Amino acid sequence: MALASVIGVGSTRYGVLDSSFLELVIDAASQALRDAGIGPEDIDAYYLGNFAGENFINQNHLAAYSASAIGLNGVPATRVEGACASGSLAVREAILAIKSGLYKRVLVVGAEKMTSLDTSGVTSVLAKASNWEAEVGHGLTFPAVFAFVARRYMHQYGATREHLAAVAVKNHNHAMLNPKAHMQKKITLEEVLSCQHMVAEPLSRYDCSLISDGASAMVLCAPELAETHRKDVVDIVGTGQASGRFEIFANELLTSFPATRLAAKRAYTMANIKPDDVDVAELHDCFTIAEIVATEDLGFFKPGEGGIAALEGRTRLGGELPINPSGGLKAKGHPVGSTGVGQGVEVVCQLRGEAGLRQVKNAEIGLTHNLGGAGGTCTVHIYKRR
Ligand SMILES: CC(C)(COP(=O)(O)OP(=O)(O)OC[C@H]1O[C@@H](n2cnc3c(N)ncnc32)[C@H](O)[C@@H]1OP(=O)(O)O)[C@@H](O)C(=O)NCCC(=O)NCCS
Repeated sequence: MALASVIGVGSTRYGVLDSSFLELVIDAASQALRDAGIGPEDIDAYYLGNFAGENFINQNHLAAYSASAIGLNGVPATRVEGACASGSLAVREAILAIKSGLYKRVLVVGAEKMTSLDTSGVTSVLAKASNWEAEVGHGLTFPAVFAFVARRYMHQYGATREHLAAVAVKNHNHAMLNPKAHMQKKITLEEVLSCQHMVAEPLSRYDCSLISDGASAMVLCAPELAETHRKDVVDIVGTGQASGRFEIFANELLTSFPATRLAAKRAYTMANIKPDDVDVAELHDCFTIAEIVATEDLGFFKPGEGGIAALEGRTRLGGELPINPSGGLKAKGHPVGSTGVGQGVEVVCQLRGEAGLRQVKNAEIGLTHNLGGAGGTCTVHIYKRR
């Protein structure tokens, strides 16, 4: 049963952009409204996913700030923050608001303007999504957190850097087919393996997601109204959210995120589907190892087999389950607050058959997975072509 329906999507290009935060939001929101064939006056509520505007653009009160710029006069405007999962949490709030019966048409935007700071400034801001006292104060920034995960995964399953590199190569290649992707650079396994720019051993620059600016938007509406707006409706049929242990060291295992498992279980049960039913997925590959672990936590592959599947090409376009056809956080880019909404935009384009050169054939069911911090927050949404 549909919880809500997507009738409009839009996105800016992701990258190092000249546009201001507001210009990004207005661009993505206008595209989504135009795609839905409605105007700001038709919107009942607005949710904004944003992680750290107060640090990146020195601006707070961002939902009202951007609602006013979009022309959403009088509309309830709410900002949602959950680290890198901020965008998908905003989508979830919109789903719940529609399902409650309170609102008919809701605009969701995810946006972040990160490149106003240099890499070390961005790293410090991102680290605020960790336990500052117990982790960051000891040098444990996000690349270091996921380096621990990678090291443990390699030790536990005998995986090598080739398995990680296969994810980077795949996602770079996918991004080459996405005109809105930040990174347009084809890479080979050999180039990744010979990269001298180590960020946190064993993760090199090629294992990390990008620091990007960007905004994405969706218009959701009550399922019974969707066909009055468009024929090619995509329904949201499952949503799961879970929280996990906040600090990476508080987890029993380093090679699995309980919040992902729980959110997935809730979403699959609600949608009444199994992992095997998913045709295309946009996963949270903030680091290459994160995509591998997610493919296992979501039930696509058995523990220890996610890296092998990536190396065998089973997760690339044309493979048995294409993962991150957009290029993912790794190569499409990761403007933190925008990411979860952007994942939804990609899946909707795939299910409508509008993904151009990166189209997954006959995709009917799509999944998004968005992780906040080191697994403190996770959301999984399931989309289905009507
Ligand atoms: C990997 C990282 C440290 C690189 O930063 P940097 O060393 O300052 O890199 P620069 O911005 O100076 O770019 C240098 C070159 O590397 C490339 N590059 C930068 N980041 C890259 C990445 N992640 N993957 C591939 N290439 C990358 C740039 O395009 C540039 O290429 P060019 O010389 O051909 O123009 C940075 O992107 C990073 O911190 N990423 C992780 C962000 C993160 O933690 N997100 C949250 C996850 S939970």
